[in-house]
Amino acid sequence: NFTPNAFVEEMVAELKEKLQDDKVVLGLSGGVDSTVAAVLLHQAIGKNLYCIFVNNGLLRKNEFQSVLDQYKGMGLNVKGVDSGDRFLSELAGVSDPETKRKIIGRVFIEVFDDESHLIEDVKWLAQGTIYPDVIESVSVKGPSATIKSHHNVGGLPDYMKLKIVEPLRMLFKDEVRRVGASLGIDPELLGRHPFPGPGLSIRILGDITPEKVQILQDVDKVFIDGLKSWGLYDKVWQAGAILLPVNSVGVMGDERTYEKVVALRAVESTDGMTADWVHLPYDFLMKVSNDIINKVKGVNRVVYDISSKPPATIEWE
Ligand code: XMP
Repeated sequence: NFTPNAFVEEMVAELKEKLQDDKVVLGLSGGVDSTVAAVLLHQAIGKNLYCIFVNNGLLRKNEFQSVLDQYKGMGLNVKGVDSGDRFLSELAGVSDPETKRKIIGRVFIEVFDDESHLIEDVKWLAQGTIYPDVIESVSVKGPSATIKSHHNVGGLPDYMKLKIVEPLRMLFKDEVRRVGASLGIDPELLGRHPFPGPGLSIRILGDITPEKVQILQDVDKVFIDGLKSWGLYDKVWQAGAILLPVNSVGVMGDERTYEKVVALRAVESTDGMTADWVHLPYDFLMKVSNDIINKVKGVNRVVYDISSKPPATIEWE
């Protein structure tokens, strides 16, 4: 029977013993796992934990600044690195899903590596790896491990020569949330939906431009804010919007329009390996669709994804 308080107490003691006065670097993503890992390590070693939060330009709208502020408010020793332009320029003209992931993985490693070199005498790399990540990265047959190249686990280069510390590697997601709660982390942060490392890049089908990122951020915000204000956010395991590489004809006043189509996706799942689409209320879908079309310039049609996984994956790329 898992007791979060006991876990925290034991893990903090273990980390103190293991890390002593060593410096540790950790990449924060804004997600639950890396945040809980950071707070745990911060309790153990305080300012010797150096957190790096990279903006890859593909986060949700305003998320880089707001999450960075939140981390600072939690007392974490965190540096925000805004590399959005660099990611977007490396991605320019690239449409292939796996190539996008590889570019983002590579640029992230470059940025992270540069930043870690600025920390004098750092000895350890901490990661928010949890048990399902460990399983997925070792099982050759694991569907998403083979079909899509996840880069959360073991993705950092050997030449960093850092020792690895992964305080959550024996925990399941719900246990991580409970540990986070016992550490006093904001429940809203702990209840956040999963969000993929490559961010919005894999929700923009086809090539990525700053304009498309902005459109998708705006659409996503209307959708997610809507879920929250209708009390639906916590009933959904993951939700997001996808910008399709097609235009469709519409009318506005007497004018014919020819604009973008977005798809909304909301799924129920326990571990992301299988998923069902959520039967969101029609009234909600109607309101959100109207809001998106009225508020987001360049979009004139909204569709809802009613595919289960398998065979459809949660992300479209
Ligand atoms: P799929 O699309 O494979 O997604 O059904 C399952 C879960 O994994 C997330 N996902 C990723 N997460 N890097 C990540 O960190 C990735 O490349 C990646 N691809 C998918 C997805 O958001 C869902 O939660």
